[in-house]
Amino acid sequence: MTEKAEVTPWEVSGDLQETDYSRIANQFGAKLIDESILKEIKEITGEIHPFLHYGIFFAHRDLDIILQNYRKGQPFYLYTGRGPSGNMHLGHLLPFMFTKWLQEKFNVDLLIQITDDEKYLFRDISEQEIGKLTRNNILDILSLGFKPDKTHIIVDTEQSGILYNQAVRVSRHITASTAKAVFGFTDSDSIGKYFFTSMQAVPAFLISALSGKNVRCLIPYAIDQDPHFKVARDVIPKLGYEKPSSIISKFIPSLKGSGKMSSSDMNSGIYLNDTPKEVRKKLMKYAFSGGRETAEQQRKYGANPDIDFAFNIYRMLEHDRKKIEDIYSRYKVGEILSGEMKQLAADTISAFLETLKPARELAEKNFSEFMFNADDFRDRY
Ligand code: TYM
Repeated sequence: MTEKAEVTPWEVSGDLQETDYSRIANQFGAKLIDESILKEIKEITGEIHPFLHYGIFFAHRDLDIILQNYRKGQPFYLYTGRGPSGNMHLGHLLPFMFTKWLQEKFNVDLLIQITDDEKYLFRDISEQEIGKLTRNNILDILSLGFKPDKTHIIVDTEQSGILYNQAVRVSRHITASTAKAVFGFTDSDSIGKYFFTSMQAVPAFLISALSGKNVRCLIPYAIDQDPHFKVARDVIPKLGYEKPSSIISKFIPSLKGSGKMSSSDMNSGIYLNDTPKEVRKKLMKYAFSGGRETAEQQRKYGANPDIDFAFNIYRMLEHDRKKIEDIYSRYKVGEILSGEMKQLAADTISAFLETLKPARELAEKNFSEFMFNADDFRDRY
């Protein structure tokens, strides 16, 4: 890792470089996604998602076991989540976009945990504000078009009965010194913070606990959440369930090029409620560019698309791999200028944000159909 770069569930600081990611994965004990895993995914799903192709999802824990068992007809379910601390930006959406693809390809249940309790404990936000954000964030997630019969949203404070009964079992196996070592807590942190990771562990075995069968769980998330699941994987087998597996993505850096997009700085990222005008303005004004100082230099020496915010977002949202490769090579040799790259990204983002609207409206009408109901799982597996 570069000297400044640091990753915890609450902070990603410094500039994460390619080499940092493999080092962090290694340090956290995750494996890099290799050719054999990609081959297996392709054999099962018929394609490689662009996030895998471009190495955005780059590491895993026991994904091979999930895939091998799936081939033998053993089911698994997906679990991911969101902490409602502000409006959602494109980075937050990335694991959900990939999760949707996994859900469609494998046709499996998905639990989505909304950790309103976490944000109450870790951020200075009122309960009322968190309540509003919770509903809004859920609608943002559902705007991707998840299917109601297989998608189950768990809001922590609403399902506290079910969750607490399991979280207390988890918490018995986590000492304060583990929490300090993994999350960097000190004696002046509230005891709520120490307990919280037990809540995030629960959906990773909840279906097994409710159904009485051992159903494996696969959790997609970006690297900042890995410490939670490192702890969860140690504890869950002690409760008699399988270790959850995970698939881990890199971070979309902030618009300005370093650190993480932050809900407290609206100019650090592109938010789902930004208008086309705002999207364009943010890109033109703030987006970190891999281009050269002057148009003349860029035509002569070309840009570095790999570190260019506009190119990276364009790549995340464009489905046509040929188009992406064409833009990449033309930008790299200087045929495309930074302003043109930013304009292309702005148009692509605005068109994408527009596509989210119908499913969001539908979800608003059918909101309750997506909410988790423990009874659904008693005989489901
Ligand atoms: P939260 O709300 O901070 O983030 C939601 C999801 O988005 C990922 N993420 C990003 N991915 C790419 N680029 C970024 N710039 C970026 N910023 C955030 C996060 O890794 C996360 O996957 N405690 C969690 C909520 C949670 C959860 C889970 C997340 C509960 N259970 C299970 C993943 C899996 C949180 O506050 O996420």
